[in-house]
Amino acid sequence: MSHPLFHRGRRLRSSAQIRDMVRDTAPLLIEDLIMPYFVVETDDQSFRKEISTMPGQYQLSLGELEKQVEKAVDNGLKSVILFGIPAQKDEKASGAYAEDGIIQEAVRRLKHRWPELYVITDVCLCEYMSHGHCGILTPAGTVLNDPTLPLLAKTAVSHATAGADMVAPSDMMDGRVSAIRAALDEAGLVMTPIMSYAVKYASAFYGPFREAAESAPSCGDRKSYQMDPGNRREALIEALADVAEGADALIVKPAGPYLDILREVRDAVELPLCAYQVSGEYSMIRAAGLNGWINEEAVMLENLVAMKRAGARMLITYFSETLLEKRLVR
Ligand code: PBG
Repeated sequence: MSHPLFHRGRRLRSSAQIRDMVRDTAPLLIEDLIMPYFVVETDDQSFRKEISTMPGQYQLSLGELEKQVEKAVDNGLKSVILFGIPAQKDEKASGAYAEDGIIQEAVRRLKHRWPELYVITDVCLCEYMSHGHCGILTPAGTVLNDPTLPLLAKTAVSHATAGADMVAPSDMMDGRVSAIRAALDEAGLVMTPIMSYAVKYASAFYGPFREAAESAPSCGDRKSYQMDPGNRREALIEALADVAEGADALIVKPAGPYLDILREVRDAVELPLCAYQVSGEYSMIRAAGLNGWINEEAVMLENLVAMKRAGARMLITYFSETLLEKRLVR
């Protein structure tokens, strides 16, 4: 009998066993997940407020954070990334690097209770600036680069001094990785890794986060420091610049709409790579799921597997708690 003139791709799809054997992207692992939390500086220790644009996500007081993390850790969570909402904001983001700032306190609490939990801090100034920009702002509305660097460095050092295991600068100022590395080393924190948001686009997908973190810029936008969504080669320039400055791992953000960029960076750089499935990506999946328009679990998994297929290892995702609770990762 002659061979058919087509490819029988279905042979290796015919049972769950063989599909599991030939799948080239490993299934999601508990170790891949990094869960973001929003911590509020408040005297009300029972403060817990659902973020209206991100159903299932909360602004939490320190006490409530501890409760929330306890449940997640019981379900297997191994890593968190923290965002702070200070009681007061000013023009120099004092709250970002205050010794008793909200993130510094949160880190101390979590590391005291769970020394093995890997605590990453987002290093940025926007949540702490009265104007909501990620750097020092001139009266004319320019975000100054070089004068912002010492503030970022101070923030990173204060997080690491409080016990953060890793710092993740998300501000997109030029030269911040080397400024932070130098300051950490100077402070004797030579073992604290920097995972830089090397490739961060000026994205509308951050919309829900800005409500969650109360960090929307009061004037203008972030296009003078975050990247233009139309640019691909620039992503490689940014990634390689952060490698040269001494970053230990890189983040591409947003993730879902930028899988091509994840792949390009994966192929060009040897450092561990992290995909950040941002707030807008979460909210869209959640909203459609809540409406019964999609199978939310299946879509969430497909989306995250796509990020791994594109080359990411670590995944910052607001679905981390759900994935663990529903035992969708192993
Ligand atoms: C701080 C920061 C932002 C996000 C992470 N760090 C917001 C922004 O740049 O406007 C976005 C995260 C998300 O949307 O989930 N600069």
